Amino acid sequence: MTSRISLKAAAKINLYLEITGSRADGYHDLVMILQSIDLCDRVDIRKIGTDEIQVNCTNPEVPCDRTNLAYKAAALMQSAYPEIGGMEITIDKQIPMGAGLAGGSTNAAAVLVGIDRLWELGLTQSQICDFAAQLGSDIPFCVTGGTALATGRGEVLSPLPDLKDLILVICKPRQISISTPWAYQTFRSQGLLAASPAKTQNFSSQMVAAIATGNESTPKKIGRLLYNDLERAVLPAYPELVALKNKLLDQECLGAMMSGSGSTIFAIAPDLDRAQQIAATVKTDDIDVWIVKSLVRSIFDDDTLPHN
Ligand code: C5P
Repeated sequence: MTSRISLKAAAKINLYLEITGSRADGYHDLVMILQSIDLCDRVDIRKIGTDEIQVNCTNPEVPCDRTNLAYKAAALMQSAYPEIGGMEITIDKQIPMGAGLAGGSTNAAAVLVGIDRLWELGLTQSQICDFAAQLGSDIPFCVTGGTALATGRGEVLSPLPDLKDLILVICKPRQISISTPWAYQTFRSQGLLAASPAKTQNFSSQMVAAIATGNESTPKKIGRLLYNDLERAVLPAYPELVALKNKLLDQECLGAMMSGSGSTIFAIAPDLDRAQQIAATVKTDDIDVWIVKSLVRSIFDDDTLPHN
């Protein structure tokens, strides 16, 4: 039996996020279209001689205690499967925090998948997703990855046809990190649910249809249909994000939108040359920029990159 595993854990963006209701449990009902992207952390898990769970991260701002989602994932698996011993989890962090890119969630997903493989538990993906849903709403998607329609709290997934080679420019202002609970709370307290423009237009079905078509015009169609209800709560509080989005839209991109609860704003580029020009225009000392492609999976072995 091997004693260690090294996995890549991909970030996600929301091509679509519609809030369709607020729930008694404090969460919101959502319709989302999620996409894995090749901005990845590396998660190494090594068996150790004790029952302890140790988490280390290359980014000193990431808390490595019991509040870390990767720690929580390991603790959940230990309580479900007492035969699992202790482990050291090392996270090489590339995905920014407070960015709306599911960085913490994808680390937790990698820990669930890694433990299943390392201790040869033989779990199905659906069993792993059940554990994932106990840890956070977007963690099941981080287990499955690719392109998916997510409903419920975000944990009910229907796979969509792979969006291959979608080219994206990902922009994260260094000084702005946004708390997801704050974004949803602001949306709710400002009564924004009542005035959702998405509902009447049936935008989500249009986006699903565009993805299903899967031809050369798909990125263009998706670019026109990008939608995120949380922009209406978050952008008024952050004029810098409005300026960044407008700058992207001025660059002949196919569309630009905030991902999740922000602060990442991404643009879809028609080709790599244009992506490089867009990136050069928006990059400053205060804004980190990545040019990435869509991925067809989220958690994968360190030496593979599943674009197709
Ligand atoms: O599920 P997760 O812990 O990732 O959610 C973080 C926070 O985001 C929740 O505490 C809640 O404030 C908000 N949220 C929500 N509705 C969802 C998902 C998340 O209100 N469907």
